Amino acid sequence: MKNFNGSKISQIYAREILDSRGNPTLEIRCYLESGVEVSASVPSGASVGQYEALELRDNDSKRYLGKGVLKAIENVNKIIAPAIIGEEAINQKKIDQLLVELDGTSNKSKLGANAILGVSMAVARAAAEFLGIPLYRYLGGIIANTIPTPMLNVINGGVHASNNLDLQEYMIVPSTSFSFSEQLRISVEVYHTLKKVLAEKNKITAIGDEGGYSADFASNEEPLAIIMESIERAGYEPGKDLFLALDSAASEFYHDGKYHLKLSDELLDSEELLRIYEDWINNYPIISIEDGFAEGDELGWKIFTKELGEKIQIVGDDIFVTNLARLRRGYEQGIANAVLIKLNQIGTVTETLQCIKYAYEIGYKPIISHRSGETEDTFISDLAVAANVPYIKTGAPARGERVCKYNRLLFIESEIHWRK
Ligand code: PGA
Ligand code: ZN
Repeated sequence: MKNFNGSKISQIYAREILDSRGNPTLEIRCYLESGVEVSASVPSGASVGQYEALELRDNDSKRYLGKGVLKAIENVNKIIAPAIIGEEAINQKKIDQLLVELDGTSNKSKLGANAILGVSMAVARAAAEFLGIPLYRYLGGIIANTIPTPMLNVINGGVHASNNLDLQEYMIVPSTSFSFSEQLRISVEVYHTLKKVLAEKNKITAIGDEGGYSADFASNEEPLAIIMESIERAGYEPGKDLFLALDSAASEFYHDGKYHLKLSDELLDSEELLRIYEDWINNYPIISIEDGFAEGDELGWKIFTKELGEKIQIVGDDIFVTNLARLRRGYEQGIANAVLIKLNQIGTVTETLQCIKYAYEIGYKPIISHRSGETEDTFISDLAVAANVPYIKTGAPARGERVCKYNRLLFIESEIHWRK
């Protein structure tokens, strides 16, 4: 057996930093005996699923309006660090299991999923560094060679923007026939053309949390028509070169069994909302709808999947929360055919990979995703390549915390496919 002694963790240290919304989050530094030193930082969502692992916040109104993460940091420095110092970083599964046991709750509420995830990510990165291989290669092995197709959120609504859209995300998805760098170039051209088209229509071109434009619209459908116009004006063919995708984040506008679309002043039941999606799918080249129904509306999800699951990708985010048990339950009930994967919904790298593995087993497409509150950490780019996922969602091609993920993928693409 090769001796991995130098991969022993010598120190783990957490600090408070800021995310892209200016809220505190954790940066974890991991040091190995060999001299390796790496860091990882933790994202944070706004449209958070009810069953997500718990993000521990201080709730001390005197600091950062209650959003400080000093408790989570103390949990890393005083509880987690002593427990895993001396462990070999290459034993990711063992370390993640230790973290889960140390917490002991089903939703990581004792130590905080933010504390646990930061450590789990930092340990993985340290192991890759120790072995002298890229993170995607470490996590995925020699089979990891797929650069995912980006789903770029070019118009922001819902809780990600201060405009009037009920739906949270309007995305463009370039054809899989292009290479990643071509996909990105085409999408950037459409994104800039969209800005021009919006300006011509006297709409503001300020951007929301994920870098998409955040104007007011006449209806929840209007962004689809305007994106179509922009694709054509940029010289591309909708339905051939580029497709559309939505993340309704419907849990956010579902109250007392009804979907409340404020923009159109409608109170809809599941069947009526389904008809709207059906109508849009017939009129636009929509290939994917995420969280079209609320996490609590299982009946809605079932009819959605039954009626439209043959035509489009139906993605579960809030309803599955990257949780294998929840995904299994959804699969058995005939809910969705794809799953959004967010590290911080479950809280460790190992559990995330297990959820992805299970998704492949049941034929659900896994889609790696950022959060609306992000950092400059590019872990998810490597994770997407490692797991050979077909798609990555990491916002518009704007704002450093989004663009760094795309830039990392450009680098990986050149490393995998073009290096002579
Ligand atoms: P969140 O949004 O990070 O605010 O949860 C992303 C999503 O819903 O996909
Ligand atoms: Zn979502």
